[in-house]
Amino acid sequence: MKGVILAGGAGTRMHPLTRITNKHLLPIYDRPMVTYAVESMVGAGVEQIMVVTGGIHAGEFFRLLGNGEDYGIDQLFYAYQERPGGIAEALGLAERFVGGDRVLVMLADNIVEQSIRPLVERFAAQERGARIVLASVDDREHLRHLGVPELDGSGRLVRIVEKPAEPPSAFAVTGLYFYDASVFEVLPTLRPSGRGELEITDVNNWFIDRGTMELDVLEGFWGDAGESIDAYYEVNDFVRSRRHRSGGSATS
Ligand code: G1P
Repeated sequence: MKGVILAGGAGTRMHPLTRITNKHLLPIYDRPMVTYAVESMVGAGVEQIMVVTGGIHAGEFFRLLGNGEDYGIDQLFYAYQERPGGIAEALGLAERFVGGDRVLVMLADNIVEQSIRPLVERFAAQERGARIVLASVDDREHLRHLGVPELDGSGRLVRIVEKPAEPPSAFAVTGLYFYDASVFEVLPTLRPSGRGELEITDVNNWFIDRGTMELDVLEGFWGDAGESIDAYYEVNDFVRSRRHRSGGSATS
């Protein structure tokens, strides 16, 4: 399974911090944000990774990650997104890298506490299609800024609603997505959303419509550190306190 880490975007929600660097290079406690996604992937055995980024700070990813050796990456590739066109557009840049294989896509501002190895193993055992990862979120206002799944009485996915005014459940769709190679068929059919982006939620709904989308629910902490400045500090506080308690790694 290949890994694609999406680290582009204009970072407007984090201005003015993101005028001087890429959002995904801002510190989370003692390390740049993107390194947590790298560690999650490598810790799960996904060691062929492409980082997709863009903007004027792209070169800083080379300075941080180099050829990936220090992070246990077997092969590290980079792709450059000319303009911020959304998560789904960024994923399209990884098509040749993925090359018919399966792929774990991770947004570089998502931080998870637990190892994602069990999720990787479950997707490897899945016959085909895609897999999303949910996190329980109690705060309805928070859910209005995320993708939220609608579930039927037996817990099956009905659809995902992006940034819902009325969240249809108390779960967020996190920025970890698993796809088989058919994902690259749907990308060219997408149309930009109201915010002018190709939405990963439209990709996920395509798999739901075909009955080939499975789901997992995360245990432990999950945070989207790029969602707002408050979310950024919430993630920082979690990582810092966890590190102090354990004296070791904040995420596994
Ligand atoms: C994106 C997705 C959203 C998901 C979130 C998780 O939101 O569109 O469905 O819940 O990542 O981090 P964005 O960060 O683009 O607003």
